[in-house]
Amino acid sequence: MNLKQMVGIEAASYVKQDMIVGLGTGSTAYYFIEELGRRVKEEHLQIQGVPTSIASREQASKLGIPIRTIDDVPYVDLVVDGADEISADFQGIKGGGAALLFEKIVASYAKEIIWIVDQSKMVDTLGKFPLPVEVVPYGAKQLFRLFSEKGYNPSFRLTADGQLLTTDCNHNIIDLHLTAIEHPHQLNEELNQLVGVVEHGLFLDMVKTVIVGQDNGPKTILVPPRKIK
Ligand code: 5RP
Repeated sequence: MNLKQMVGIEAASYVKQDMIVGLGTGSTAYYFIEELGRRVKEEHLQIQGVPTSIASREQASKLGIPIRTIDDVPYVDLVVDGADEISADFQGIKGGGAALLFEKIVASYAKEIIWIVDQSKMVDTLGKFPLPVEVVPYGAKQLFRLFSEKGYNPSFRLTADGQLLTTDCNHNIIDLHLTAIEHPHQLNEELNQLVGVVEHGLFLDMVKTVIVGQDNGPKTILVPPRKIK
């Protein structure tokens, strides 16, 4: 069993009868959804799944997990999702799979968030992984210029065949190659204020539980309560 599968299966054990469950996106969340599907089929677990992407919706649907959108439910009991980087103080970068907008919306209405990662995603400081910024296509090149001027080393996200990537919401992604993000809250504020930026991949002060896949088994970390920023 690989580390992503290990944490996916472990996280699925947190799902209880009748929960409304946010279904993350990516190659780690994939294993979580597979295991949920198995539990629905074999253990008659009754849940409602709120997918964070078209890919996760299609996967869950095929597995027989009942699907709802975020607008169909009053809240989400638990969302389980992957992450691209988690810092020593449990802030995260997400959006490597281009699903950050729906992921952040679903996370915003969740009572509990679990991130599942393999050990390579745990870092001291965020920023080695490029920070995704989701932008509307109109004016995207202006934002790109602005990011260049600020020294943020932007690049437009492309598909495997070299086309400009469009998200599930028909936006584009500009990745910022920052190397180190020393002040994530400051950057969060700055990006939130830019017209044309729909969302970005800094997920701050959100996660309560992290399950890390290690060679000797899954390690569950309960994030200490945060101070008010
Ligand atoms: C998608 C995400 C993913 O959760 C993140 O990119 C991690 O993906 P993977 O589990 O494939 O490494 O944020 O937008």
